[in-house]
Order: sequence, then C-alpha cells, then structure tokens
Amino acid sequence: MGKRLPFIAGNWKMNLTAAEVKTLLSALAPEVEKISTVEVAVFPPAPYLLTAVAAVGNSPIQVGAQNMCWEEAGAFTGEISSAMLLDIGCNQVLVGHSERRHIFQENDEIINRKLRHGLEASLTVVLCLGETLEEREREQTNQVVMTQLRAGLKQVGVEDLSRILIAYEPVWAIGTGKTATPAQAQDVHESIRGWLAEDYGRETAESIRILYGGSVKPQNAAELLSQPDIDGALVGGASLKADSFLAIIRSGA
Ligand code: PGA
Repeated sequence: MGKRLPFIAGNWKMNLTAAEVKTLLSALAPEVEKISTVEVAVFPPAPYLLTAVAAVGNSPIQVGAQNMCWEEAGAFTGEISSAMLLDIGCNQVLVGHSERRHIFQENDEIINRKLRHGLEASLTVVLCLGETLEEREREQTNQVVMTQLRAGLKQVGVEDLSRILIAYEPVWAIGTGKTATPAQAQDVHESIRGWLAEDYGRETAESIRILYGGSVKPQNAAELLSQPDIDGALVGGASLKADSFLAIIRSGA
C-alpha cells in the first residue's frame, strides 16, 4: 500500500486584503517549492482567487475556492461556478465546511450536489465533516460523521474518489483554540476510513487522504500528523501568517 502524500491546506475564510494575499503567497511560494513531500493548497476569499493564482505562479501551491454553486451558469445571483473557477486556474473547492453548514444552513443534500458538480467539472473536492460539542457530549460523534460522509458522497462512484479529500473538523475545535487530542482525531479518522472501506473497498479507502482541521498550530501539527490515519491538515487561523503556516507544512514533510 503506497503511503499517502500529506496535504496541508490553508482556509483563509473571510480574511486578508489583496495586498496581504500577495505578500503571504510570495513568502510561501519559494519555501513550498523546496518541499516535494507535501501537497499544499490555499483557499482565499473569492475576490482574491485570481490574485492568488497569479501570485503562486509556477510554484506547486494549488489554489481553491471556499464555496461554489452546484449549477454551471445562469440566474444565481451572488454565486460562483465551477466553470469560473477552472477558467481562472483554480482546481479545488471546499464543500460542507461547518461554517457553511451552520451559518449558511447548507444541508447534506446541497453539499452532495455541490460535491458531485465539482467532480463533474473535474475539480478536486475537499468534503468537510464534523460534530458539534453537543453531539460529542451526547456520544453521537460517529453517527453524525458517518451520516455526513455517506450523504456527502451519495451517488459518487469509486472512480471519482481519487479527486476527493475528506476533512474531519470537529466544530468545537474550529477557531476555539481547543484541538481534538491526536488520539480523539485518530479515532474518528480511523472510523471514516472504515466506512469508506465498507462502501468503496479497502484499497480505495487506504488511498484517500483524510485531513484534520480545528485549531491546528505549529505546536500541535507534528503530533496530529504522526497519527496513522491523519494525512494532512485544513488550517484556518494559523494559515494567515507565513511563518506559522510554513511550520505546519514542514511538520507534514
Ligand atoms: P481554525 O479553522 O484552524 O482556525 O480552527 C479551521 C477551519 O475551519 O478550516
């Protein structure tokens, strides 16, 4: 079984200015170029996607969108399409981030439509999942994560799985400074891989990268990434500064 290439992604959420995007990427690009053992992606706010694509230039940093519509074009005021993303050189999209689920009321059906549309458009799709604190306290973590996983991947065939990454992000750990312990995260990651194996076979499940997200920092990244089923990180706050994001990238190398 081939070892999975670690994937470290920066989710910039609704932060930064155009000038800051340029500065951050020009600091990251030459350093990431020296590291061949980690895949790196950034997810800037939509107005800066083009700026980011230009700023990464030929460096191996990939650029993706934080959100996208499930339709190709038309009367969808305020939305951006997969065709637009491809047109400007983005090859990735986040789907089902907990802020989309909880603040913008995206349900599993919408998330599945976006995911399938992204796959059809040949984008790489990062499907985000995770339980709330209340759900964890009620011992519903596995049930919630399994439901989100299976609903998110509804009607997705095994042939498309190579363009999917899963990001497990416990909602109580996002932006709170509270990280899941490496053992807590590993536990859920192992279950996710088990459900993927039930649905798509062991070999496919072993090839899929499952990222952890939720208060990942330089101080905790190495230990999280050393867990057997944690194949990378989706980093929010700590990806907004070149030094902390680079330190996390290097922990995965
Ligand atoms: P955080 O965000 O690292 O700031 O907790 C992670 C995310 O929401 O993707």
